[in-house]
Amino acid sequence: MTIIDGKKVSTAVKENVKKEVEQLKAKGVTPGLAVILVGDDPASRVYVNNKKKACEFVGFKSEEFALPADTTQDELLKLVDELNNRKDINGILCQLPLPKGLDENAVIEAISPMKDVDAFHKQNVGRIMIGDYDFLPCTPAGIMEMLHDYDINVDGKNCVVIGRSNIVGKPMAMLLLHENATVTICHSHTKNLKEIASGADVLVAAVGKAKFVTEDMVKENAVVIDVGMNRDENGKLCGDVDFENVKDKCSFITPVPGGVGPMTIATLMKNTLKAAKLQNGID
Ligand code: GUN
Repeated sequence: MTIIDGKKVSTAVKENVKKEVEQLKAKGVTPGLAVILVGDDPASRVYVNNKKKACEFVGFKSEEFALPADTTQDELLKLVDELNNRKDINGILCQLPLPKGLDENAVIEAISPMKDVDAFHKQNVGRIMIGDYDFLPCTPAGIMEMLHDYDINVDGKNCVVIGRSNIVGKPMAMLLLHENATVTICHSHTKNLKEIASGADVLVAAVGKAKFVTEDMVKENAVVIDVGMNRDENGKLCGDVDFENVKDKCSFITPVPGGVGPMTIATLMKNTLKAAKLQNGID
């Protein structure tokens, strides 16, 4: 059993971005990422801080817009509009979820597709669907990069994704499909989840429930990817997979923390670099 080291892979990705940033800076371009955080969700605050730290590491300019929870839709859209028009900002990220009362879809659609480094805009989602894209969504693309780094080939494999969110589950299934996997998406209405999951060569858990994936749901020698970021009964960070009981059954497994999370951020850095290059006509 191998524990996949997402921290190590993500550092290598960020080192590559950093080198490219140095070359861009020599041409007078410093990539800029705007990060919008509305309200005071503690988990979102941690994610945003980590994104800012990564920007510093690779040499981007990052600008944070921390807005109060009672920000109106109009105020938020006005900010997005300003950022769309700023030359020094190449990527715009609005941390989700937004507080109740704000329309996430409207905010996502307001972000210029060229600056949509999360790849959430429907134009980018459509382009991913047909395989002609500039940006890939950060978490699924980070997972694919981790699989490649460990020489895990999904071609012809049974891959099961638990979760169907627009951020992870759906695009994850699409990226696996692009690499010729046979993909099944399971969700809260799936009737025979255990049966399906336990047939998976590659199992991706993106449920948002602590230790949801138990030993009996995992096939011997499966590759298990844990997207979860939860707190257990003692307040300790844990994933969607019951790691201690599942790990010995796997050929590969990602830990939480130190698995998927760092890869999400590394991909965001790649996307922002690409956005800066595209917007400046550099290839
Ligand atoms: N909330 C959870 N994951 C993400 C992400 O990848 N991007 C943004 N913007 N919000 C998130």
